[in-house]
Amino acid sequence: MKIRAAVLESFDAPLEVQELDLAEPEPGEVLVRLVACGVCHTDLYTASGADPSGYSPTVLGHEGAGVVERVGDGVTSVAQGDHVVTLFSPQCRECIHCRDPRTNLCLAIREQQNQGYLPDGTTRLSRDGEAIRHFMGTSTFAEYTVMPEIALAKVAPDAPLDRACLFACGLSTGLGAAMNTAKVEPGSTCVVFGAGMVGLGAVAGCRLQGAERIVCVDLSDDRLELARGQGATDTLLGGPETVQQIVDMTGGFGADYTFEATGNVNVMRQAVESARMGWGLATVCGVAGKGETLDVVPRFLITGRRVAGSSFGGVKGRDQVPQLIDRYLAGDIDVDPFVSHKLTLDDVNRGFELMEAQDGIRSVIEFA
Ligand SMILES: NC(=O)c1ccc[n+]([C@@H]2O[C@H](COP(=O)([O-])OP(=O)(O)OC[C@H]3O[C@@H](n4cnc5c(N)ncnc54)[C@H](O)[C@@H]3O)[C@@H](O)[C@H]2O)c1
Ligand SMILES: [Zn+2]
Ligand SMILES: [Zn+2]
Repeated sequence: MKIRAAVLESFDAPLEVQELDLAEPEPGEVLVRLVACGVCHTDLYTASGADPSGYSPTVLGHEGAGVVERVGDGVTSVAQGDHVVTLFSPQCRECIHCRDPRTNLCLAIREQQNQGYLPDGTTRLSRDGEAIRHFMGTSTFAEYTVMPEIALAKVAPDAPLDRACLFACGLSTGLGAAMNTAKVEPGSTCVVFGAGMVGLGAVAGCRLQGAERIVCVDLSDDRLELARGQGATDTLLGGPETVQQIVDMTGGFGADYTFEATGNVNVMRQAVESARMGWGLATVCGVAGKGETLDVVPRFLITGRRVAGSSFGGVKGRDQVPQLIDRYLAGDIDVDPFVSHKLTLDDVNRGFELMEAQDGIRSVIEFA
């Protein structure tokens, strides 16, 4: 079939909305009609050429939500008409990692996905007979996409898809960092560095876990205001004295749980240093620049602080994204303030501009 999609032709140039060919789903694959898709930093990171593993041409986009149009042979977990959220982090339910509760890093299709192929090593996308590679296994800046069944979360049919799409990446990452990776305990004190989509999700996750005190740190007053709306009890403008401020606010000890959601390695260090002696856990969500390292004085670890990383919030996508969306539908998570702009596919580059200007939390593309 013919589809319209936003193609990354060459790095550091605007995406081009073009007509491409999309082949039918092969066994184990699903054709999805996209309804909404968020514009995320990872798309921009790849488009800019900064990602050393990036390639072109490809169709970007990974925060998708849509409706199942057709399924390939052997597909049993979704059917035509189901509402789905796309998962760049799949869940095969069979590999050694999927069967272990300690991680969500499914091993089933990693290598092919990283190279831009579907699990059988080919693409469904093409243009004039030339293969076009997929991106993050999703390629959702497009009217339709073909994805493996194991990379689709079937969600409640009454969830608005222009909100549900945020659970495909940033929001679930933040929520999961607090709920899965750190497993924040009721009554605890938490600090979240960064009040973008990921950090605001972490604030909400800390609140859902019953944290008593949630301090959010950012450079923007507007974003700190949004953090208060998600349950932050205290806010701080970030700077070199942030660690000392947090130590002072916590009786000289530091916080039970800290979260880093900025991508800045100096802030990661602050997250470690403001975690409590004895048991404080610093959870790193941000993606640092190529070659950057996290500098930690070992004494902080010997005296009982721990550091954890979190990919997609440790969320096992097919099982847990539907659960998170049910909590949203139950009124536990306020998603509306995160959707700052609605765009058409033709405006996709405007989504990048808004993100670079830090104008709003998320732009969402809606497909007619
Ligand atoms: N681990 C994962 O699976 C995963 C998934 C999605 C995104 N990410 C990463 O998470 C990070 C956050 O993503 P986002 O979409 O929320 O980004 P964002 O840019 O919207 O938010 C980052 C926030 O950090 C704030 N900030 C910058 N410097 C700061 C400082 N010194 N002190 C305090 N706050 C500071 C900014 O003001 C901004 O509000 C990025 O690095 C992104 O690549 C990771
Ligand atoms: Zn993303
Ligand atoms: Zn797996």
